[in-house]
Amino acid sequence: MLEKLVIEGQHPLKGTVEISGSKNAVLPILAATLLTEGTSIIENVPRLRDTLTMIALLRSLGKDVDFTKNTVTVGGNKPLKHIAEYKLVSTMRGSFCVLGPLLAKLKKAKVSLPGGCVIGVRPVDLHLKGLKSLGVKFEVDGGYVIGDGPRMKGCQIYLGGVFGSSVLATANLMMAATLIKGETVIDSAACEPEIYDLGCFLSKMGAQITGHGTPRIIIQGVKELKGAHYRIGPDRVEAGTYILLAAATKSTLTLKNADCSQLVALKDKLEEHGVELQCELQTIVVKPKFIRRPTSITTYPYPGFPTDLQAQFMALMANTPGVSVITDKVFPDRFIHIAELNRMGAQIRREGSIAVVEGVRVLHGAPVMASDLRASAALVIAGLAAKGKTEIHRVYHLERGYEGMEHKLQKIGAKITRVKE
Ligand code: EPZ
Repeated sequence: MLEKLVIEGQHPLKGTVEISGSKNAVLPILAATLLTEGTSIIENVPRLRDTLTMIALLRSLGKDVDFTKNTVTVGGNKPLKHIAEYKLVSTMRGSFCVLGPLLAKLKKAKVSLPGGCVIGVRPVDLHLKGLKSLGVKFEVDGGYVIGDGPRMKGCQIYLGGVFGSSVLATANLMMAATLIKGETVIDSAACEPEIYDLGCFLSKMGAQITGHGTPRIIIQGVKELKGAHYRIGPDRVEAGTYILLAAATKSTLTLKNADCSQLVALKDKLEEHGVELQCELQTIVVKPKFIRRPTSITTYPYPGFPTDLQAQFMALMANTPGVSVITDKVFPDRFIHIAELNRMGAQIRREGSIAVVEGVRVLHGAPVMASDLRASAALVIAGLAAKGKTEIHRVYHLERGYEGMEHKLQKIGAKITRVKE
């Protein structure tokens, strides 16, 4: 049933937020368990709609999966199925990264094309280009890509696209290359921390892989891989979201299990704006100062400013007097949150792939609609900063990527409740 979040804005927030494991690290790592009959144990897995979808997909492919508290155990040596059904892949694009492991293991795969979504068309041309270079033949039929690669072998692949590198295309190629003959070199690979995590997990499984986390990844194929034990690192996007929430509500918050080294671009921009991040080991203390300057951002692949924090940053700028310009070079259409923020009194206009934000002194609560996962987070931030009551409808979008968000917020003093529509 549909639920909404009701937020009473402008209550002072303080205290500590525990950051969960990284959703975007865990999805490809779960897909990688398809590469072995061995048992893998993955800790610190966030309990989210997206992780549950990936687990359902693994089960539909024949794996035995147990998810207790925040630990996932994947095993079972039933023969793998090679078809990833539309009903699962269409609800979460991340499912497309089972294509590489299925091809590596079975030399064939039939995976539903992921639908587009509110942030853009979401093409898969780079995934298919890379896999074709390894020798896979593809046809598209009935909304599925059907790949056949009986004689795959390693080669050099340039994976740069119009919008830069691709995270999940890099993941698909890394996984496909682990079990095929020869050496694969991926140039213009994505450098996101989630790719580094995947490389570490594959290495623990026995893959011969170097350069993960840099633009050049080299994989020597091996005969087989074994199960591995791995602990997922903190979710940098969840951490960035709570940092921006603290900035927008002028609250001093402490984040536990948060890795500052993955948020350097955000830290730099917030210092320009007037918020200091004090970073110790796995703790970040957010300290808003008095002056708050309008600040422009442009998103880029890692280590650039992350597109997944663009909407949340816009919510901060909407409530910062002065003009800032927000450009998304990764997903140029990722602006669905503009209309909703404007319903709350923001003054934002879109001009092609840029948004011009004329920050206002105060936002006003209003009923708004969640859509994209991160746009929904932006509405929570705006609602907490705004005067009055905000209702965020279709809250299931938030549950895709934020574990227990309203509980984490209630713990630091937010007036936020979940009610049935
Ligand atoms: C991953 O998606 C993340 N998802 C996204 O996070 C994130 O926004 C994105 O990377 C960029 O950082 C997961 O990790 C599960 P891309 P992915 O391929 O891999 C274009 C969230 O909120 N492109 O790196 O699907 C694409 O259109 C989600 O957690 C092609 O042109 O994104 C985009 O413009 C949203 N051809 C750019 O590249 C392709 O074959 C980057 O996309 C593939 C992508």
